[in-house]
Amino acid sequence: MTEPKYHLTSYGCQMNKLDSELVETKLQQRGYAVAIEEADADVVLINTCSVRQHAEDRVWSKLGKLRIRKRTEPNLVVGVLGCMAQEHKRYMLSRMPHVDLVVGPSSFGDIDATVEQARTRNAALVAEREPAKTKHEVVGAGMVSVDQGISGDSIKRNVKVRPHRSQAYMSIMRGCNMPCSYCIVPTTRGDEVSRPVADLVDEANRLVDDGVTEITLLGQTVNAYGRDLKGQDARLSGLLRELHKIPALRRLAFITSHPNFLSPDLIDALAELPKISRYLHLPAQSGSNSVLKAMRRGYTVERYKKRIEQLWEKAPDMELHSDFIVGYPGETEEDFEATVALMKELRFSQSYIFKYSARPGTVSAELVDDVSMADKNRRNQVLLAVQEELSAEQNQAMVGQTVEILVEGESKVAGRMTGRTSQHRLVHFESSDQGLCGQYVPVKVTEALAHSCLGDLLAHDAAEMSAADQASNDLAHADDQAGTSDK
Ligand code: SAH
Ligand code: SF4
Ligand code: F3S
Repeated sequence: MTEPKYHLTSYGCQMNKLDSELVETKLQQRGYAVAIEEADADVVLINTCSVRQHAEDRVWSKLGKLRIRKRTEPNLVVGVLGCMAQEHKRYMLSRMPHVDLVVGPSSFGDIDATVEQARTRNAALVAEREPAKTKHEVVGAGMVSVDQGISGDSIKRNVKVRPHRSQAYMSIMRGCNMPCSYCIVPTTRGDEVSRPVADLVDEANRLVDDGVTEITLLGQTVNAYGRDLKGQDARLSGLLRELHKIPALRRLAFITSHPNFLSPDLIDALAELPKISRYLHLPAQSGSNSVLKAMRRGYTVERYKKRIEQLWEKAPDMELHSDFIVGYPGETEEDFEATVALMKELRFSQSYIFKYSARPGTVSAELVDDVSMADKNRRNQVLLAVQEELSAEQNQAMVGQTVEILVEGESKVAGRMTGRTSQHRLVHFESSDQGLCGQYVPVKVTEALAHSCLGDLLAHDAAEMSAADQASNDLAHADDQAGTSDK
């Protein structure tokens, strides 16, 4: 018998990406193979995100298509994983009989067994079943598996499921305890739970032994790490210092930070530890105090700026990344202008900009969503344009500089490789040498594109580089990825 095949589509944040890697590891350990095409899979899994309506709509539409497919392939197992599974489990089980399993993000520890069970139950149901009475009839195993509290955090990862051998995410905490009025994450991911320092040092060592040289620590409020670990003095600064000692680790990043926890001890660690990536993702969300207050973010614009001032006093090379929401209920033109002003003043190097989307059950969902879609779109475009200009200026300032990049792989343009600087900036250079993947190489930046830079590799094989074909101008811009669009 051939091995069963799965296909997994992943939406949402980096945590979901990491969760998907863990799920894949478990399935592969159980003998499942990857189906490159979803149509060839025996098990179709979707790891979902609830953060905005748009993210959910894509999944509902995908589930609609799978329902049709299941009429002709009744053995197919359809699984909804992640935040929507947590949020809509009842609806899915009562209204979507073609969905066989619904697994929330805290229950991935035994996902392989759950999938296996669904396959067995589904096959038995199909065997027992009378032929479909109507063409609309579909049968699922009707299995739910949420809230088991068996997180996938401690799964020993299989190197093959990481997109890049030398880079890995590591989840240091789950959940979120912040009261942001608009946000569904505390509902879908539950309370903050930090993992003990010893476990994390252990996992980092295993990853490094496995070829990893860059680790990105993950948490919704990653710099609040440890506050739930009573009796232990566990803080992000201390954890960074511990991980920094691992000799073969070269880069250490962490996302996403909350402005309220940008503490002096963390700033000191950022200033003192050279392996720490030189960017801080610190979402401001808005530049207007009345909007920030309504959002329950717990800081004012002045306080946010003060924190950045303190950061730059000690670590002036740290670049800032942010998230912004435009069109929050009640946001006036004046509020929006204040956001534009903040962006210009702090010169963020990258921002994700989102149009406000009311999430049922959140505090702000009770408010009238009174900014018209036309205004949301316009504000989104304006803010994007401001960020693009800032990013372009910053890329331009890099021309002539030599930067060290970690090579990630081939770029979208043939004959070109791509890597990232310690500030997370994308740099492309002419080469087809796959052997460079995972290496840290010096590149001299020669041209700024809107979202990335082009450069020349400075290495022993530089002669080969200068002989490389000159790309056409079109091609020159084809791999210039947007870093500022609505993700
Ligand atoms: N924990 C992180 C981010 C979590 S969600 C933090 O607090 O910074 C990622 C981003 O999605 C948020 O920063 C916010 O900008 C955006 N977001 C969250 N809920 C949203 C909503 N209801 N509508 C639009 N954007 C939202
Ligand atoms: Fe959501 Fe706020 Fe928590 Fe971020 S800090 S995940 S925006 S509740
Ligand atoms: Fe989305 Fe869940 Fe992440 S709602 S942003 S996948 S925590």
